[in-house]
Amino acid sequence: MQSKLDFSQNRLCQLLNIKFPIIQGGMVWCSGWKLASAVAEAGGLGLIGSGSMRPDLLREHIRKANQATKKSFGVNIPLFYKYSEDFIQIILEEGVRYVVTSAGSPKKYTQTLKSAGVIVGHVVPSSVLALKCQDAGVDFVVCEGFEAGGHNGIDEITTFCLVPQVAKIIELPLAAAGGIGTGAQILAAQVLGADGVQIGTRFACTEESSAHPAFKQTIMNSHEASTVLTLKKLTPVRLAKNAFYQKICELEARGEDSVDNLKALLGTGRARKGIFEGDLEEGELEFGQIGSMVRDCPSVSEVMERLMDEYLKSKQKLVAV
Ligand SMILES: Cc1cc2nc3c(=O)[nH]c(=O)nc-3n(C[C@H](O)[C@H](O)[C@H](O)COP(=O)(O)O)c2cc1C
Repeated sequence: MQSKLDFSQNRLCQLLNIKFPIIQGGMVWCSGWKLASAVAEAGGLGLIGSGSMRPDLLREHIRKANQATKKSFGVNIPLFYKYSEDFIQIILEEGVRYVVTSAGSPKKYTQTLKSAGVIVGHVVPSSVLALKCQDAGVDFVVCEGFEAGGHNGIDEITTFCLVPQVAKIIELPLAAAGGIGTGAQILAAQVLGADGVQIGTRFACTEESSAHPAFKQTIMNSHEASTVLTLKKLTPVRLAKNAFYQKICELEARGEDSVDNLKALLGTGRARKGIFEGDLEEGELEFGQIGSMVRDCPSVSEVMERLMDEYLKSKQKLVAV
């Protein structure tokens, strides 16, 4: 079925040298070299999520991914992360070809990376920030609606509203993110003006994801309303409504949700606890609304095949309407 698909004229595929217009979003504690290289092998852009790594570990993951695939993989850097400066150095030394930055200003490293020949994308939650990406000289933009798992925009703009507005005002190749986990949703994103998509939650629940089995099971058991955008005063994040989230609610109900109190409650290592160690009560369980459509944990190649089969079927169905 996939053989009927030809994305050779797709701008995002051309830019990233990929077969299908699918980027696997960088994900703390999920997307190491295994996931990134599996996605690359299956025809998408795989991203190593550096946001949970120390510099030496990132270097190791880049080298392992390089051994595992000759196809397109890159690194995601959340710019607020304390090692981001070190990561840039490592990326340049290791000859990484693709970088997607997030959670910070696209101006920070884009020119440094580009002058070394790296293709740079940046993740944004709004049209205003998409324009800033264009000014900063990035090569492509990922616009992410607030359905998405993980850290997110504060203004709660949905993917369906964001994509067409960003597509209208920027010239650059555009990937839509947030709430995408089926081929029909990829097609819908393209109809709205995106060239392709960035997918997180669906890939977090694959064999190659390094997340804890209990975290993956939580995604598989989730329903539409299992997650919420919270910690808005601190760093807005979409996560599951578990015991940790209830503690946030209690602080809020008592009117004690100052930034300092929220920081103290969050502490350090909550995402590791939840996603990597499988502590379903005290951990931060980051995943998106699309979790309620993720009912199994197959291999990456199986997911990619399904996505593209569904995409083709949806396209044929659309023609028949
Ligand atoms: C477990 C998890 C961890 C994430 N970590 C990061 C991260 O480190 N950096 C980043 O830019 N985005 C991160 N994200 C967002 C994804 O890269 C992606 O944009 C998002 O998941 C897309 O929405 P979806 O979850 O609806 O597919 C994370 C998402 C999840 C589910």
